[in-house]
Amino acid sequence: MKRLLFLVLSGLLSVLFFVAFWRDTDREWTRTQRRFLKTLSKDERRQVGTGIRQLIVSDLDRVDRCTTCHVAIDKPQLALAEEPFTAHPGSWLQSHPPEKFGCTVCHGGQGLATEVAAAHGDVTHWEEPLLRGALVQASCGQCHGDLQAIAPQVPLLVKGRELFKVKGCYGCHAVKDVGQTISQDLTEVGSKSYLLMEADFEMMDPPHDRIHWLMSKLRHPRQLNPGVRPAELPPGEEEVFPSAMPHFGLREEEAEALTVYLLSLTASDLPVSYTTPAVPEPVVAFASPVERGRAVFERLGCAGCHGIGGAGGRKNWNSGLGEEIPSLAYVNAYYGNDVDSLKQLIRNGRQPVPRADPNRPRPSLYMPAWKDRLSEEELDALVAYLFSLAEHLPPPSSPSDSSSRAQAN
Ligand code: HEC
Ligand code: HEC
Ligand code: HEC
Ligand code: HEC
Ligand code: HEC
Repeated sequence: MKRLLFLVLSGLLSVLFFVAFWRDTDREWTRTQRRFLKTLSKDERRQVGTGIRQLIVSDLDRVDRCTTCHVAIDKPQLALAEEPFTAHPGSWLQSHPPEKFGCTVCHGGQGLATEVAAAHGDVTHWEEPLLRGALVQASCGQCHGDLQAIAPQVPLLVKGRELFKVKGCYGCHAVKDVGQTISQDLTEVGSKSYLLMEADFEMMDPPHDRIHWLMSKLRHPRQLNPGVRPAELPPGEEEVFPSAMPHFGLREEEAEALTVYLLSLTASDLPVSYTTPAVPEPVVAFASPVERGRAVFERLGCAGCHGIGGAGGRKNWNSGLGEEIPSLAYVNAYYGNDVDSLKQLIRNGRQPVPRADPNRPRPSLYMPAWKDRLSEEELDALVAYLFSLAEHLPPPSSPSDSSSRAQAN
Protein backbone atom coordinates (compact mmCIF):
# COMPACT_ATOMS: atom_id res chain seq x y z
CA MET A 1 0.00 0.00 0.00
CA LYS A 2 2.73 2.43 1.05
CA ARG A 3 4.61 1.50 -2.07
CA LEU A 4 1.65 2.21 -4.30
CA LEU A 5 1.19 5.62 -2.68
CA PHE A 6 4.87 6.34 -3.25
CA LEU A 7 4.59 5.37 -6.91
CA VAL A 8 1.52 7.53 -7.46
CA LEU A 9 3.07 10.50 -5.69
CA SER A 10 6.35 10.35 -7.54
CA GLY A 11 4.47 9.94 -10.80
CA LEU A 12 2.49 13.06 -10.01
CA LEU A 13 5.66 14.91 -9.12
CA SER A 14 7.34 14.13 -12.40
CA VAL A 15 4.25 15.28 -14.29
CA LEU A 16 4.33 18.58 -12.37
CA PHE A 17 8.03 18.90 -13.01
CA PHE A 18 7.49 18.29 -16.68
CA VAL A 19 4.71 20.87 -16.90
CA ALA A 20 6.85 23.44 -15.12
CA PHE A 21 9.75 22.70 -17.42
CA TRP A 22 7.55 22.95 -20.48
CA ARG A 23 6.06 26.24 -19.35
CA ASP A 24 9.49 27.63 -18.66
CA THR A 25 10.70 26.89 -22.17
CA ASP A 26 7.58 28.44 -23.64
CA ARG A 27 7.89 31.94 -22.30
CA GLU A 28 7.51 34.96 -24.56
CA TRP A 29 11.25 35.52 -24.54
CA THR A 30 12.16 31.92 -25.30
CA ARG A 31 9.78 31.91 -28.27
CA THR A 32 11.28 35.21 -29.41
CA GLN A 33 14.83 33.88 -29.16
CA ARG A 34 13.91 30.68 -31.02
CA ARG A 35 12.38 32.75 -33.81
CA PHE A 36 15.62 34.66 -34.17
CA LEU A 37 17.95 31.67 -33.89
CA LYS A 38 16.12 29.98 -36.77
CA THR A 39 17.45 32.69 -39.09
CA LEU A 40 21.08 31.93 -38.18
CA SER A 41 23.66 29.37 -39.28
CA LYS A 42 24.83 26.77 -36.74
CA ASP A 43 28.03 28.70 -36.15
CA GLU A 44 26.28 32.00 -35.59
CA ARG A 45 23.82 30.29 -33.24
CA ARG A 46 26.65 29.08 -31.04
CA GLN A 47 28.09 32.59 -31.07
CA VAL A 48 24.79 34.12 -29.91
CA GLY A 49 23.79 31.45 -27.39
CA THR A 50 20.48 31.22 -25.53
CA GLY A 51 19.04 32.20 -22.16
CA ILE A 52 18.21 35.38 -20.34
CA ARG A 53 20.76 38.12 -20.96
CA GLN A 54 21.21 41.01 -18.64
CA LEU A 55 23.23 44.19 -18.46
CA ILE A 56 24.11 44.80 -14.83
CA VAL A 57 24.89 48.48 -14.37
CA SER A 58 25.55 48.84 -10.67
CA ASP A 59 26.56 52.52 -10.89
CA LEU A 60 23.06 53.34 -12.14
CA ASP A 61 21.36 50.75 -9.95
CA ARG A 62 19.84 49.06 -13.01
CA VAL A 63 19.59 45.52 -14.37
CA ASP A 64 18.36 45.55 -17.97
CA ARG A 65 17.23 42.36 -19.67
CA CYS A 66 16.12 44.08 -22.90
CA THR A 67 18.82 42.28 -24.91
CA THR A 68 17.10 38.97 -24.09
CA CYS A 69 14.67 39.79 -26.92
CA HIS A 70 16.58 42.58 -28.65
CA VAL A 71 19.21 39.95 -29.37
CA ALA A 72 20.97 41.66 -32.26
CA ILE A 73 20.87 45.22 -30.97
CA ASP A 74 24.70 45.33 -30.87
CA LYS A 75 25.27 42.83 -33.71
CA PRO A 76 24.56 44.63 -36.99
CA GLN A 77 26.01 41.72 -38.99
CA LEU A 78 23.24 39.37 -37.73
CA ALA A 79 20.38 41.82 -37.35
CA LEU A 80 17.06 41.66 -39.24
CA ALA A 81 14.79 44.48 -40.36
CA GLU A 82 12.00 43.41 -38.00
CA GLU A 83 11.66 44.29 -34.25
CA PRO A 84 12.94 43.12 -31.87
CA PHE A 85 15.75 41.78 -34.03
CA THR A 86 17.08 45.07 -35.42
CA ALA A 87 20.49 46.55 -34.77
CA HIS A 88 20.55 49.82 -32.87
CA PRO A 89 20.31 52.83 -35.22
CA GLY A 90 23.11 55.38 -35.28
CA SER A 91 26.23 55.14 -33.14
CA TRP A 92 24.45 55.49 -29.80
CA LEU A 93 25.80 52.24 -28.41
CA GLN A 94 29.35 53.27 -29.33
CA SER A 95 29.11 56.61 -27.50
CA HIS A 96 27.14 54.97 -24.64
CA PRO A 97 28.40 51.37 -24.34
CA PRO A 98 25.69 48.97 -23.06
CA GLU A 99 27.94 47.61 -20.26
CA LYS A 100 28.19 51.11 -18.80
CA PHE A 101 24.74 52.50 -19.65
CA GLY A 102 22.28 49.64 -20.16
CA CYS A 103 19.11 50.56 -22.05
CA THR A 104 16.51 51.90 -19.62
CA VAL A 105 18.47 55.02 -18.62
CA CYS A 106 17.67 56.31 -22.12
CA HIS A 107 14.53 54.36 -23.07
CA GLY A 108 12.62 53.92 -19.81
CA GLY A 109 10.66 50.68 -19.52
CA GLN A 110 11.14 47.96 -16.93
CA GLY A 111 14.64 46.50 -17.13
CA LEU A 112 14.07 43.27 -15.22
CA ALA A 113 10.90 42.18 -17.02
CA THR A 114 10.97 39.47 -19.71
CA GLU A 115 7.47 39.88 -21.15
CA VAL A 116 6.97 42.45 -23.89
CA ALA A 117 4.22 44.49 -22.21
CA ALA A 118 5.91 44.56 -18.81
CA ALA A 119 9.37 45.30 -20.27
CA HIS A 120 7.94 48.19 -22.25
CA GLY A 121 6.25 49.54 -19.12
CA ASP A 122 2.71 48.96 -20.45
CA VAL A 123 1.48 47.79 -17.04
CA THR A 124 -0.45 49.88 -14.56
CA HIS A 125 2.02 49.98 -11.68
CA TRP A 126 5.12 50.87 -13.71
CA GLU A 127 5.86 54.59 -13.90
CA GLU A 128 8.54 54.69 -16.61
CA PRO A 129 6.83 54.15 -19.99
CA LEU A 130 9.00 53.14 -22.93
CA LEU A 131 10.39 56.11 -24.82
CA ARG A 132 10.12 55.20 -28.50
CA GLY A 133 11.41 57.08 -31.50
CA ALA A 134 12.09 60.77 -30.96
CA LEU A 135 10.63 60.69 -27.41
CA VAL A 136 13.92 59.15 -26.26
CA GLN A 137 15.37 62.69 -26.38
CA ALA A 138 13.66 63.26 -23.05
CA SER A 139 16.37 61.18 -21.36
CA CYS A 140 19.45 63.05 -22.56
CA GLY A 141 19.19 66.10 -20.29
CA GLN A 142 19.56 64.11 -17.06
CA CYS A 143 23.26 63.58 -17.92
CA HIS A 144 24.07 66.26 -20.47
CA GLY A 145 23.85 69.51 -18.50
CA ASP A 146 25.00 71.37 -21.59
CA LEU A 147 22.13 70.82 -24.03
CA GLN A 148 23.65 73.24 -26.52
CA ALA A 149 26.55 70.83 -27.05
CA ILE A 150 24.19 68.04 -28.19
CA ALA A 151 21.53 70.30 -29.77
CA PRO A 152 21.73 68.66 -33.24
CA GLN A 153 20.82 65.28 -31.67
CA VAL A 154 17.95 66.60 -29.54
CA PRO A 155 15.93 69.01 -31.72
CA LEU A 156 12.61 68.21 -29.99
CA LEU A 157 13.98 68.67 -26.50
CA VAL A 158 15.52 72.02 -27.42
CA LYS A 159 12.30 73.14 -29.10
CA GLY A 160 10.22 72.05 -26.09
CA ARG A 161 12.41 73.99 -23.69
CA GLU A 162 12.10 77.08 -25.89
CA LEU A 163 8.30 76.73 -26.17
CA PHE A 164 7.99 76.44 -22.40
CA LYS A 165 9.50 79.91 -22.19
CA VAL A 166 7.83 81.51 -25.21
CA LYS A 167 4.31 80.32 -24.33
CA GLY A 168 4.69 81.72 -20.81
CA CYS A 169 4.46 78.48 -18.81
CA TYR A 170 6.74 80.09 -16.21
CA GLY A 171 3.97 82.58 -15.45
CA CYS A 172 2.14 79.87 -13.48
CA HIS A 173 4.60 76.98 -13.05
CA ALA A 174 8.02 76.80 -11.47
CA VAL A 175 10.88 74.60 -12.65
CA LYS A 176 13.95 74.52 -10.39
CA ASP A 177 13.11 77.77 -8.58
CA VAL A 178 12.42 79.70 -11.79
CA GLY A 179 8.81 80.69 -12.40
CA GLN A 180 5.68 81.46 -10.43
CA THR A 181 3.83 79.23 -7.99
CA ILE A 182 0.25 79.87 -9.17
CA SER A 183 0.07 76.16 -10.02
CA GLN A 184 2.13 72.99 -9.57
CA ASP A 185 5.87 72.95 -9.45
CA LEU A 186 6.92 70.98 -12.53
CA THR A 187 10.57 70.42 -11.51
CA GLU A 188 10.08 66.64 -11.29
CA VAL A 189 6.98 66.11 -13.40
CA GLY A 190 8.94 63.61 -15.54
CA SER A 191 9.58 61.25 -12.63
CA LYS A 192 7.16 62.15 -9.84
CA SER A 193 5.15 59.17 -8.58
CA TYR A 194 1.74 58.86 -10.22
CA LEU A 195 0.19 59.18 -6.76
CA LEU A 196 1.74 62.60 -6.20
CA MET A 197 1.39 63.85 -9.74
CA GLU A 198 -1.93 65.55 -10.26
CA ALA A 199 -2.82 63.27 -13.15
CA ASP A 200 -6.30 61.79 -13.44
CA PHE A 201 -6.05 58.94 -15.91
CA GLU A 202 -9.77 58.22 -15.73
CA MET A 203 -10.39 61.43 -17.66
CA MET A 204 -8.66 60.12 -20.78
CA ASP A 205 -8.51 57.13 -23.11
CA PRO A 206 -5.74 54.55 -22.61
CA PRO A 207 -2.79 54.15 -22.62
CA HIS A 208 -2.69 55.46 -19.06
CA ASP A 209 0.89 56.53 -18.68
CA ARG A 210 2.92 59.67 -18.10
CA ILE A 211 3.59 60.32 -21.79
CA HIS A 212 -0.06 60.25 -22.76
CA TRP A 213 -1.24 62.17 -19.74
CA LEU A 214 1.13 65.05 -20.47
CA MET A 215 0.32 65.02 -24.16
CA SER A 216 -3.46 65.01 -23.52
CA LYS A 217 -3.20 67.68 -20.82
CA LEU A 218 -1.36 69.96 -23.22
CA ARG A 219 -3.83 69.37 -26.04
CA HIS A 220 -6.93 69.77 -23.81
CA PRO A 221 -5.79 71.72 -20.76
CA ARG A 222 -9.21 73.01 -19.76
CA GLN A 223 -11.16 69.77 -20.12
CA LEU A 224 -8.58 67.68 -18.25
CA ASN A 225 -8.94 69.31 -14.86
CA PRO A 226 -8.03 66.75 -12.22
CA GLY A 227 -10.61 66.35 -9.48
CA VAL A 228 -13.32 68.12 -11.46
CA ARG A 229 -15.30 65.71 -13.59
CA PRO A 230 -17.61 67.48 -16.04
CA ALA A 231 -20.17 64.66 -15.80
CA GLU A 232 -20.51 65.16 -12.05
CA LEU A 233 -21.13 68.91 -12.11
CA PRO A 234 -24.61 70.37 -11.80
CA PRO A 235 -26.14 71.01 -15.25
CA GLY A 236 -25.02 74.33 -16.69
CA GLU A 237 -22.06 74.61 -14.33
CA GLU A 238 -19.47 73.03 -16.65
CA GLU A 239 -18.15 76.46 -17.50
CA VAL A 240 -17.70 77.42 -13.87
CA PHE A 241 -15.04 74.85 -13.02
CA PRO A 242 -12.80 74.48 -16.05
CA SER A 243 -9.09 74.31 -15.33
CA ALA A 244 -7.37 77.67 -14.98
CA MET A 245 -4.72 76.48 -17.38
CA PRO A 246 -5.17 78.33 -20.67
CA HIS A 247 -5.76 76.62 -23.99
CA PHE A 248 -2.64 77.35 -26.01
CA GLY A 249 -3.92 75.90 -29.29
CA LEU A 250 -0.70 73.91 -29.62
CA ARG A 251 0.02 72.14 -32.87
CA GLU A 252 0.66 68.38 -32.66
CA GLU A 253 4.44 68.76 -32.97
CA GLU A 254 4.50 71.58 -30.40
CA ALA A 255 2.63 69.41 -27.90
CA GLU A 256 5.09 66.60 -28.59
CA ALA A 257 8.11 68.87 -28.09
CA LEU A 258 6.69 70.21 -24.81
CA THR A 259 5.96 66.64 -23.67
CA VAL A 260 9.58 65.67 -24.35
CA TYR A 261 10.75 68.66 -22.32
CA LEU A 262 8.37 67.86 -19.43
CA LEU A 263 9.44 64.19 -19.46
CA SER A 264 13.05 65.37 -19.19
CA LEU A 265 12.32 67.10 -15.87
CA THR A 266 13.30 64.31 -13.50
CA ALA A 267 14.70 63.91 -10.04
CA SER A 268 18.07 62.34 -10.58
CA ASP A 269 21.29 61.97 -8.69
CA LEU A 270 23.54 60.19 -11.13
CA PRO A 271 27.25 59.59 -10.43
CA VAL A 272 29.38 62.46 -11.79
CA SER A 273 31.14 60.10 -14.20
CA TYR A 274 27.83 59.94 -16.08
CA THR A 275 27.20 63.64 -16.32
CA THR A 276 28.55 66.66 -18.13
CA PRO A 277 28.36 69.97 -16.27
CA ALA A 278 25.68 72.57 -17.00
CA VAL A 279 26.90 75.76 -18.60
CA PRO A 280 25.45 79.19 -17.79
CA GLU A 281 23.21 80.80 -20.43
CA PRO A 282 25.21 83.08 -22.71
CA VAL A 283 24.93 86.80 -21.94
CA VAL A 284 22.89 88.50 -24.67
CA ALA A 285 23.45 92.11 -25.72
CA PHE A 286 20.20 93.99 -26.42
CA ALA A 287 19.79 96.69 -29.04
CA SER A 288 17.50 98.82 -26.84
CA PRO A 289 15.76 98.86 -23.44
CA VAL A 290 12.54 97.79 -25.21
CA GLU A 291 14.29 94.70 -26.61
CA ARG A 292 15.68 93.91 -23.19
CA GLY A 293 12.22 94.37 -21.68
CA ARG A 294 10.77 91.98 -24.23
CA ALA A 295 13.26 89.33 -23.10
CA VAL A 296 12.34 89.93 -19.42
CA PHE A 297 8.63 89.64 -20.29
CA GLU A 298 9.40 86.31 -21.94
CA ARG A 299 11.69 84.96 -19.22
CA LEU A 300 9.18 85.68 -16.46
CA GLY A 301 6.27 84.11 -18.35
CA CYS A 302 3.97 87.17 -18.45
CA ALA A 303 2.65 85.80 -21.77
CA GLY A 304 1.16 82.76 -19.98
CA CYS A 305 -1.55 85.04 -18.59
CA HIS A 306 -1.50 88.17 -20.76
CA GLY A 307 -1.00 86.41 -24.12
CA ILE A 308 1.95 86.54 -26.49
CA GLY A 309 3.15 90.14 -26.72
CA GLY A 310 0.53 91.12 -24.10
CA ALA A 311 -2.30 90.66 -26.61
CA GLY A 312 -4.73 89.26 -24.02
CA GLY A 313 -7.44 86.69 -24.67
CA ARG A 314 -6.72 84.31 -21.76
CA LYS A 315 -9.78 83.28 -19.77
CA ASN A 316 -10.22 83.96 -16.06
CA TRP A 317 -13.59 82.58 -15.05
CA ASN A 318 -15.92 84.78 -13.07
CA SER A 319 -13.54 87.71 -13.16
CA GLY A 320 -15.13 91.15 -13.18
CA LEU A 321 -12.65 92.08 -15.89
CA GLY A 322 -14.76 90.62 -18.70
CA GLU A 323 -13.96 86.99 -17.66
CA GLU A 324 -10.52 87.54 -19.13
CA ILE A 325 -7.08 88.58 -18.02
CA PRO A 326 -6.63 92.09 -19.41
CA SER A 327 -4.62 92.75 -22.54
CA LEU A 328 -1.70 95.08 -21.86
CA ALA A 329 -2.50 97.47 -24.70
CA TYR A 330 -3.70 100.19 -22.34
CA VAL A 331 -0.69 100.24 -19.99
CA ASN A 332 0.85 103.30 -21.60
CA ALA A 333 -2.44 105.25 -21.55
CA TYR A 334 -3.14 104.29 -17.95
CA TYR A 335 0.29 104.39 -16.29
CA GLY A 336 2.17 106.70 -18.68
CA ASN A 337 2.25 109.47 -16.07
CA ASP A 338 2.56 107.19 -13.08
CA VAL A 339 5.49 104.85 -13.62
CA ASP A 340 5.94 104.32 -9.89
CA SER A 341 2.48 102.78 -9.47
CA LEU A 342 3.16 100.44 -12.37
CA LYS A 343 6.47 99.35 -10.86
CA GLN A 344 4.80 98.86 -7.52
CA LEU A 345 2.07 96.75 -9.12
CA ILE A 346 4.63 94.52 -10.82
CA ARG A 347 6.67 94.12 -7.63
CA ASN A 348 3.68 93.42 -5.37
CA GLY A 349 1.05 91.94 -7.66
CA ARG A 350 -2.65 92.42 -6.96
CA GLN A 351 -5.11 90.23 -5.12
CA PRO A 352 -7.94 89.48 -5.20
CA VAL A 353 -9.43 89.98 -8.64
CA PRO A 354 -12.98 91.43 -8.55
CA ARG A 355 -15.76 88.83 -9.03
CA ALA A 356 -18.39 89.17 -11.75
CA ASP A 357 -20.92 87.08 -9.81
CA PRO A 358 -20.47 87.05 -6.02
CA ASN A 359 -22.20 83.62 -5.79
CA ARG A 360 -19.73 81.88 -8.05
CA PRO A 361 -16.16 80.88 -7.07
CA ARG A 362 -13.31 83.39 -7.03
CA PRO A 363 -11.32 83.75 -10.26
CA SER A 364 -8.27 81.57 -9.83
CA LEU A 365 -5.79 83.74 -11.70
CA TYR A 366 -4.47 86.95 -10.21
CA MET A 367 -1.53 89.23 -10.89
CA PRO A 368 1.34 87.57 -8.97
CA ALA A 369 4.02 89.49 -7.06
CA TRP A 370 7.38 89.51 -8.80
CA LYS A 371 9.29 91.03 -5.85
CA ASP A 372 13.00 90.31 -6.39
CA ARG A 373 12.60 88.02 -9.38
CA LEU A 374 13.90 90.91 -11.47
CA SER A 375 16.51 93.62 -10.92
CA GLU A 376 15.77 97.36 -10.93
CA GLU A 377 17.31 97.69 -14.43
CA GLU A 378 15.22 94.81 -15.70
CA LEU A 379 12.10 96.39 -14.24
CA ASP A 380 12.89 99.66 -16.04
CA ALA A 381 13.36 97.73 -19.30
CA LEU A 382 10.13 95.82 -18.72
CA VAL A 383 8.23 99.10 -18.20
CA ALA A 384 9.72 100.50 -21.43
CA TYR A 385 8.53 97.37 -23.23
CA LEU A 386 5.01 97.57 -21.73
CA PHE A 387 4.74 101.23 -22.77
CA SER A 388 5.73 100.24 -26.32
CA LEU A 389 2.87 97.75 -26.62
CA ALA A 390 0.16 100.28 -27.39
CA GLU A 391 1.80 100.86 -30.78
CA HIS A 392 1.43 97.19 -31.78
CA LEU A 393 -1.78 96.05 -30.13
CA PRO A 394 -5.38 96.90 -30.93
CA PRO A 395 -6.99 99.07 -28.22
CA PRO A 396 -8.75 97.20 -25.38
CA SER A 397 -11.69 95.31 -26.91
CA SER A 398 -14.56 95.98 -24.50
CA PRO A 399 -15.47 99.19 -22.68
CA SER A 400 -15.92 97.09 -19.52
CA ASP A 401 -12.12 97.04 -19.29
CA SER A 402 -11.82 100.66 -18.33
CA SER A 403 -14.82 100.66 -15.97
CA SER A 404 -13.56 97.55 -14.18
CA ARG A 405 -10.15 99.20 -13.87
CA ALA A 406 -11.86 101.88 -11.85
CA GLN A 407 -13.61 99.23 -9.71
CA ALA A 408 -10.41 97.29 -9.16
CA ASN A 409 -8.49 100.28 -7.94
C1 HEC B 1 9.95 39.77 -24.33
C2 HEC B 1 10.68 40.38 -25.41
C3 HEC B 1 11.07 41.86 -25.28
C4 HEC B 1 11.73 42.44 -24.24
C5 HEC B 1 12.20 41.82 -22.92
C6 HEC B 1 11.91 43.83 -24.61
N1 HEC B 1 11.40 44.08 -25.86
FE1 HEC B 1 11.41 45.83 -26.87
N2 HEC B 1 10.34 45.01 -28.36
C7 HEC B 1 9.92 43.68 -28.40
C8 HEC B 1 9.06 43.52 -29.55
C9 HEC B 1 8.35 42.21 -29.93
C10 HEC B 1 8.97 44.78 -30.20
C11 HEC B 1 8.15 45.12 -31.46
C12 HEC B 1 6.71 45.38 -31.06
C13 HEC B 1 6.55 46.69 -30.30
O1 HEC B 1 6.98 47.72 -30.81
O2 HEC B 1 6.00 46.65 -29.20
C14 HEC B 1 9.80 45.68 -29.42
C15 HEC B 1 9.97 47.04 -29.72
C16 HEC B 1 10.79 47.91 -28.99
C17 HEC B 1 11.05 49.29 -29.33
C18 HEC B 1 10.34 50.10 -30.37
C19 HEC B 1 10.69 49.86 -31.75
C20 HEC B 1 9.85 50.78 -32.64
O3 HEC B 1 10.17 50.81 -33.81
O4 HEC B 1 8.90 51.43 -32.15
C21 HEC B 1 11.92 49.79 -28.41
C22 HEC B 1 12.48 51.21 -28.36
C23 HEC B 1 12.18 48.74 -27.49
N3 HEC B 1 11.49 47.60 -27.86
C24 HEC B 1 13.00 48.86 -26.39
C25 HEC B 1 13.06 47.93 -25.37
C26 HEC B 1 13.74 48.15 -24.11
C27 HEC B 1 14.43 49.44 -23.69
C28 HEC B 1 13.60 47.01 -23.37
C29 HEC B 1 14.07 46.73 -21.96
C30 HEC B 1 13.47 47.55 -20.92
C31 HEC B 1 12.85 46.06 -24.19
N4 HEC B 1 12.53 46.67 -25.39
C32 HEC B 1 12.55 44.76 -23.81
C33 HEC B 1 10.25 42.69 -27.52
C34 HEC B 1 10.87 42.89 -26.29
C1 HEC C 1 22.28 57.03 -25.09
C2 HEC C 1 20.92 56.66 -25.05
C3 HEC C 1 20.52 55.29 -25.57
C4 HEC C 1 20.83 54.07 -25.05
C5 HEC C 1 21.76 53.77 -23.87
C6 HEC C 1 20.12 53.08 -25.82
N1 HEC C 1 19.40 53.71 -26.80
FE1 HEC C 1 18.13 52.81 -28.12
N2 HEC C 1 17.85 54.59 -29.07
C7 HEC C 1 18.40 55.79 -28.68
C8 HEC C 1 18.14 56.78 -29.71
C9 HEC C 1 18.56 58.23 -29.68
C10 HEC C 1 17.40 56.10 -30.74
C11 HEC C 1 16.91 56.69 -32.05
C12 HEC C 1 15.55 57.26 -31.92
C13 HEC C 1 15.13 57.87 -33.22
O1 HEC C 1 15.53 58.99 -33.50
O2 HEC C 1 14.41 57.19 -33.96
C14 HEC C 1 17.24 54.74 -30.30
C15 HEC C 1 16.57 53.76 -31.01
C16 HEC C 1 16.34 52.46 -30.54
C17 HEC C 1 15.53 51.47 -31.23
C18 HEC C 1 14.84 51.65 -32.56
C19 HEC C 1 13.40 51.95 -32.40
C20 HEC C 1 13.12 53.37 -32.02
O3 HEC C 1 12.41 53.57 -31.03
O4 HEC C 1 13.62 54.27 -32.69
C21 HEC C 1 15.53 50.35 -30.44
C22 HEC C 1 14.79 49.04 -30.69
C23 HEC C 1 16.38 50.63 -29.30
N3 HEC C 1 16.85 51.91 -29.40
C24 HEC C 1 16.66 49.72 -28.29
C25 HEC C 1 17.66 49.89 -27.37
C26 HEC C 1 18.16 48.85 -26.50
C27 HEC C 1 17.64 47.42 -26.43
C28 HEC C 1 19.16 49.40 -25.75
C29 HEC C 1 20.06 48.72 -24.73
C30 HEC C 1 21.04 47.82 -25.27
C31 HEC C 1 19.27 50.80 -26.14
N4 HEC C 1 18.36 51.05 -27.13
C32 HEC C 1 20.15 51.72 -25.57
C33 HEC C 1 19.10 56.04 -27.52
C34 HEC C 1 19.62 55.06 -26.69
C1 HEC D 1 23.24 58.23 -18.11
C2 HEC D 1 23.82 59.43 -18.68
C3 HEC D 1 23.65 59.73 -20.17
C4 HEC D 1 22.50 59.71 -20.92
C5 HEC D 1 21.10 59.33 -20.45
C6 HEC D 1 22.86 60.16 -22.23
N1 HEC D 1 24.20 60.44 -22.28
FE1 HEC D 1 25.24 61.05 -23.92
N2 HEC D 1 26.97 60.78 -22.93
C7 HEC D 1 27.08 60.52 -21.58
C8 HEC D 1 28.48 60.42 -21.25
C9 HEC D 1 29.05 60.18 -19.85
C10 HEC D 1 29.20 60.61 -22.46
C11 HEC D 1 30.69 60.59 -22.64
C12 HEC D 1 31.21 61.97 -22.43
C13 HEC D 1 32.64 61.98 -22.74
O1 HEC D 1 32.97 61.92 -23.93
O2 HEC D 1 33.42 62.02 -21.82
C14 HEC D 1 28.21 60.84 -23.50
C15 HEC D 1 28.51 61.12 -24.83
C16 HEC D 1 27.61 61.66 -25.72
C17 HEC D 1 27.92 62.27 -26.99
C18 HEC D 1 29.27 62.48 -27.54
C19 HEC D 1 29.79 61.28 -28.22
C20 HEC D 1 31.22 61.48 -28.68
O3 HEC D 1 31.77 60.48 -29.11
O4 HEC D 1 31.74 62.59 -28.56
C21 HEC D 1 26.74 62.68 -27.56
C22 HEC D 1 26.54 63.38 -28.89
C23 HEC D 1 25.69 62.31 -26.64
N3 HEC D 1 26.25 61.71 -25.55
C24 HEC D 1 24.34 62.57 -26.85
C25 HEC D 1 23.33 62.01 -26.07
C26 HEC D 1 21.94 62.03 -26.43
C27 HEC D 1 21.36 62.69 -27.65
C28 HEC D 1 21.29 61.37 -25.44
C29 HEC D 1 19.80 61.04 -25.35
C30 HEC D 1 19.29 60.23 -26.44
C31 HEC D 1 22.26 60.97 -24.45
N4 HEC D 1 23.50 61.37 -24.87
C32 HEC D 1 21.96 60.31 -23.28
C33 HEC D 1 26.05 60.37 -20.68
C34 HEC D 1 24.72 60.19 -21.05
C1 HEC E 1 -2.44 80.79 -16.32
C2 HEC E 1 -1.77 79.79 -15.57
C3 HEC E 1 -1.15 78.62 -16.30
C4 HEC E 1 -0.29 78.68 -17.37
C5 HEC E 1 0.23 79.89 -18.09
C6 HEC E 1 0.09 77.31 -17.63
N1 HEC E 1 -0.53 76.45 -16.76
FE1 HEC E 1 -0.22 74.45 -16.61
N2 HEC E 1 -1.57 74.37 -15.09
C7 HEC E 1 -2.22 75.45 -14.54
C8 HEC E 1 -3.09 74.99 -13.47
C9 HEC E 1 -3.97 75.87 -12.59
C10 HEC E 1 -2.91 73.58 -13.38
C11 HEC E 1 -3.54 72.63 -12.34
C12 HEC E 1 -4.96 72.33 -12.62
C13 HEC E 1 -5.08 71.45 -13.79
O1 HEC E 1 -4.36 70.44 -13.91
O2 HEC E 1 -5.92 71.74 -14.64
C14 HEC E 1 -1.95 73.22 -14.41
C15 HEC E 1 -1.52 71.94 -14.66
C16 HEC E 1 -0.51 71.60 -15.55
C17 HEC E 1 0.02 70.27 -15.75
C18 HEC E 1 -0.44 69.02 -15.05
C19 HEC E 1 0.57 68.63 -14.01
C20 HEC E 1 0.27 67.29 -13.38
O3 HEC E 1 0.89 67.00 -12.34
O4 HEC E 1 -0.55 66.54 -13.89
C21 HEC E 1 0.99 70.36 -16.71
C22 HEC E 1 1.84 69.24 -17.25
C23 HEC E 1 1.06 71.74 -17.12
N3 HEC E 1 0.14 72.47 -16.38
C24 HEC E 1 1.93 72.22 -18.08
C25 HEC E 1 1.92 73.52 -18.57
C26 HEC E 1 2.69 73.97 -19.70
C27 HEC E 1 3.65 73.12 -20.51
C28 HEC E 1 2.39 75.29 -19.87
C29 HEC E 1 2.87 76.22 -20.96
C30 HEC E 1 2.54 75.81 -22.33
C31 HEC E 1 1.45 75.67 -18.83
N4 HEC E 1 1.18 74.56 -18.08
C32 HEC E 1 0.95 76.94 -18.65
C33 HEC E 1 -2.10 76.76 -14.91
C34 HEC E 1 -1.30 77.22 -15.93
C1 HEC F 1 -0.98 84.19 -13.26
C2 HEC F 1 -1.42 85.13 -14.23
C3 HEC F 1 -0.62 86.40 -14.46
C4 HEC F 1 0.70 86.52 -14.77
C5 HEC F 1 1.74 85.40 -14.94
C6 HEC F 1 0.96 87.91 -14.96
N1 HEC F 1 -0.18 88.62 -14.77
FE1 HEC F 1 -0.40 90.64 -14.92
N2 HEC F 1 -2.33 90.48 -14.37
C7 HEC F 1 -3.03 89.31 -14.13
C8 HEC F 1 -4.39 89.63 -13.78
C9 HEC F 1 -5.47 88.61 -13.44
C10 HEC F 1 -4.51 91.02 -13.85
C11 HEC F 1 -5.73 91.85 -13.53
C12 HEC F 1 -5.70 92.11 -12.07
C13 HEC F 1 -6.67 93.15 -11.58
O1 HEC F 1 -6.82 94.15 -12.25
O2 HEC F 1 -7.20 92.90 -10.51
C14 HEC F 1 -3.20 91.52 -14.23
C15 HEC F 1 -2.91 92.86 -14.41
C16 HEC F 1 -1.73 93.36 -14.92
C17 HEC F 1 -1.50 94.72 -15.26
C18 HEC F 1 -2.49 95.83 -15.18
C19 HEC F 1 -2.81 96.20 -13.83
C20 HEC F 1 -3.91 97.25 -13.84
O3 HEC F 1 -3.83 98.16 -13.07
O4 HEC F 1 -4.82 97.07 -14.64
C21 HEC F 1 -0.21 94.83 -15.72
C22 HEC F 1 0.51 96.06 -16.20
C23 HEC F 1 0.36 93.50 -15.65
N3 HEC F 1 -0.58 92.64 -15.17
C24 HEC F 1 1.63 93.20 -16.05
C25 HEC F 1 2.17 91.93 -15.94
C26 HEC F 1 3.56 91.63 -16.21
C27 HEC F 1 4.60 92.63 -16.67
C28 HEC F 1 3.73 90.30 -15.97
C29 HEC F 1 5.01 89.50 -16.03
C30 HEC F 1 6.06 89.98 -15.15
C31 HEC F 1 2.43 89.77 -15.58
N4 HEC F 1 1.53 90.79 -15.56
C32 HEC F 1 2.19 88.45 -15.31
C33 HEC F 1 -2.51 88.05 -14.18
C34 HEC F 1 -1.18 87.74 -14.45
